[in-house]
Amino acid sequence: MEARNGEQNMYRVLSRFYRQLAEPRNHFASQARVVGHLLAELPNGTEARVLDAACGTGDVLKCLWEAGSRSLYGCDGSEDMLQQVQFDGIRGRVSHVEWGQLDRYLRTHDPFDCIYILGNSLAHADLTKIEGILGSMQGGLSDGGVAIVDVRRWALASGGVRDGSGRADSEWRFLVEAELDGRRYQVSDKACLEGSVQRVMYRFVDAVEPQGTLQEELVYHVFSAKEICELGRRIGFAVAETKVFEEWPYDVVALKQPRNG
Ligand SMILES: C[S@@+](CC[C@H](N)C(=O)[O-])C[C@H]1O[C@@H](n2cnc3c(N)ncnc32)[C@H](O)[C@@H]1O
Repeated sequence: MEARNGEQNMYRVLSRFYRQLAEPRNHFASQARVVGHLLAELPNGTEARVLDAACGTGDVLKCLWEAGSRSLYGCDGSEDMLQQVQFDGIRGRVSHVEWGQLDRYLRTHDPFDCIYILGNSLAHADLTKIEGILGSMQGGLSDGGVAIVDVRRWALASGGVRDGSGRADSEWRFLVEAELDGRRYQVSDKACLEGSVQRVMYRFVDAVEPQGTLQEELVYHVFSAKEICELGRRIGFAVAETKVFEEWPYDVVALKQPRNG
């Protein structure tokens, strides 16, 4: 069994299965449609300079390319996720950047019209770090540009916070059967809420050789779209609003940079 990466969210194991978990849920195409709706509100639409700041496997950027966008860039803190990037159209435009280094990355690039962190990625940071991340995103935007993040819907129950999707806490849930290097794995996950932290254990059981079982734990922080909007306003975004899209399970927060001149 591989060592767990716990707090570091390195996606060392999950990266190798990520596409097989995401594709059946239409995750990439739906996310690209959400970004497309928001790009359509910008004056330069598909001409907009776009940065996916948690681009992972690069599949959302690929969908945006297919929808006509060309000024596409990506960065991510996990080298393992970036190794999964297959699409040649963006391969030279993705960089290994941890959010703590986003400022430096953005200083060496022209301003972006849209910078997004989607797919419940921001939840890997806690609220104390998110202020800095949103501040970096803001610093890298053009006048009138937009930063977009998404937030899981948490529900308040009598025993505390609950996953808004209604899934049971601390129970294994079968996700998908996946293939890796000629072996078949049964993929399951188990989420455990501990105060404002959710730990999700992903387990990949090799049906033929149980000793080949892999697992990895990822940590997600609990916060609301309202808290992100308040944070955005506090650090100077002109508009901070929550949007809901039929095709997307998370609340989407759009933060607009003031337009100067
Ligand atoms: C759930 S995946 C989503 C990937 C992609 N946005 C998607 O929806 O398919 C979360 C991504 O956030 C990245 N990530 C998590 N913490 C990060 C950090 N501190 N700095 C940069 N990237 C980070 C992970 O490496 C991973 O690729």
